[in-house]
Amino acid sequence: MRAKITVVGAGNVGATVAHEIARSDYADVILVDIIEGLPQGKALDMNAAGPVLGYEPRVTATNSYEETAGSEVVIVTSGKPRSPGMSRDDLVTTNQAIVGSVTEQSVAHSPNAVLVVVTNPLDAMCHVAREVAGLPKQRVFGMAGILDTARFRTFIAWETGSSVRDVSAMVLGGHGDQMVPVVSSASVGGVPLRRLLAEERIEELVERTRKGGGEVVDLLGTSAWYAPGAAVAEMVEAIVLDQKRVLPCTAYLEGEYGIDGLYIGVPVKLGGGGIEEIVELELSERERAELETSADAVREVVGVLTG
Ligand code: NAI
Repeated sequence: MRAKITVVGAGNVGATVAHEIARSDYADVILVDIIEGLPQGKALDMNAAGPVLGYEPRVTATNSYEETAGSEVVIVTSGKPRSPGMSRDDLVTTNQAIVGSVTEQSVAHSPNAVLVVVTNPLDAMCHVAREVAGLPKQRVFGMAGILDTARFRTFIAWETGSSVRDVSAMVLGGHGDQMVPVVSSASVGGVPLRRLLAEERIEELVERTRKGGGEVVDLLGTSAWYAPGAAVAEMVEAIVLDQKRVLPCTAYLEGEYGIDGLYIGVPVKLGGGGIEEIVELELSERERAELETSADAVREVVGVLTG
């Protein structure tokens, strides 16, 4: 039997996640949205792509939660995206209410699920989901680091004229402009990035990565969805297939990296139980200080949460 995955929010990100998962053939997907007709129309379209692309999972659509019962993973993408000129943090109040309500309903029907939060401001929304869900921290976490790292890897590949597949890198910290691309461990085919590029060029790639989401928002008038959708699907696959992948995710820290009681992006081992381990990287002095600055920025947004 295939795994059962619920995707809440059938907008740009949710629909892309649902399609990526369906294409991978290991799970059936339930797509939920408050807009009547929206998940139904997208699900019908995705199902009709199966014969052409050669996948068999069923995408089911609903405007309520009964059909989501017993899901192994619930992905929360419902909520407002950014418009040009907005920071992710500007969404906090609106999206707190949405994430709180969908988390409550999802967990009521799938108490054993792993919850993956995508809605922005991501780190703060993880706090909301954990509070409402009452699930262990291993089963409530967020997607941001894979996306931010994918952007960093893309820019490194372009700059060095390499294949993206040979670029190893990691981005830590909050999902905001203070995120921390870890230059000390970035490499291409095992060769450290600092041996391949001048420091000023690296700084430009770091800066472009930090503003990578905003660059898309300025071009499109809304948030990205292809790379976010692929990133969520990579996490879901690691969970459902118990792959023990080490991936950057937004995890609740209790002392790791010297940070306590805060959701922030760090590498974790992801398997059937959700987050099975938090992986502590060796960071340079500067990277440690940047992570602390990023944590302060996340604390500020978490402080705005009501209730
Ligand atoms: P979108 O506007 O295309 O879709 C959001 C969907 O949520 C809409 O279809 C809406 O009807 C639905 N929705 C709203 N309230 C709901 C509720 N109570 N129950 C069920 N569905 C509800 O937005 P998009 O582009 O899909 O972005 C979704 C969220 O993901 C935004 O907050 C965005 O900022 C965030 N995002 C996060 C990323 C990350 O790296 N963590 C990357 C990209 C986007």
